[in-house]
Amino acid sequence: MNQFLEKFINSVFIRPGSALDLGAGDFKDVKALKKECWFCEGVDLKTGADLKKPYLSQNASLDLVFSNYVFQFIKNKNQFLKTVSDNLKKDGWLFIHTFDDSDKAMKSGISEEFIKQILLDNGFKDISTKVFDYFDDAPGHNHWHRILEVTAQK
Ligand SMILES: C[S@@+](CC[C@H](N)C(=O)[O-])C[C@H]1O[C@@H](n2cnc3c(N)ncnc32)[C@H](O)[C@@H]1O
Repeated sequence: MNQFLEKFINSVFIRPGSALDLGAGDFKDVKALKKECWFCEGVDLKTGADLKKPYLSQNASLDLVFSNYVFQFIKNKNQFLKTVSDNLKKDGWLFIHTFDDSDKAMKSGISEEFIKQILLDNGFKDISTKVFDYFDDAPGHNHWHRILEVTAQK
């Protein structure tokens, strides 16, 4: 599982809850959370869910919605954040990893200030952001990224 997501979950939740992964890729984080007794659903373009459009889980009112390395692909960021909010219960948590605008491999146009403002605009609270360097050693990658991590509460 994404080690940073795992650390965040362990710092916020004292027991397993319910989660949704927006842009789940190969569903590795979904599978890992299920192993830890979470209810966890994932959606991805590859499995027919286009997050350019609204998405509402049958299990909306979730404890956590997370989305890793997808936000930079989404043009209508307000609509994406509405999807996050619509699937969360009140006080539920959002966790996003994306690439900061200072990332050399992926010009995202996303800064901490920008994401803080649109989260405020979409009614989120307890917003926290950080940017850090991370070496991507996946086959064929082998380069540094500037990761932007964002957490917030509905
Ligand atoms: C870099 S991968 C990240 C996968 C996974 N979140 C992870 O951390 O390993 C980006 C994923 O976003 C998905 N994606 C991109 N645009 C999307 C869209 N409009 N709707 C749904 N999924 C999308 C892609 O299909 C891909 O699986």
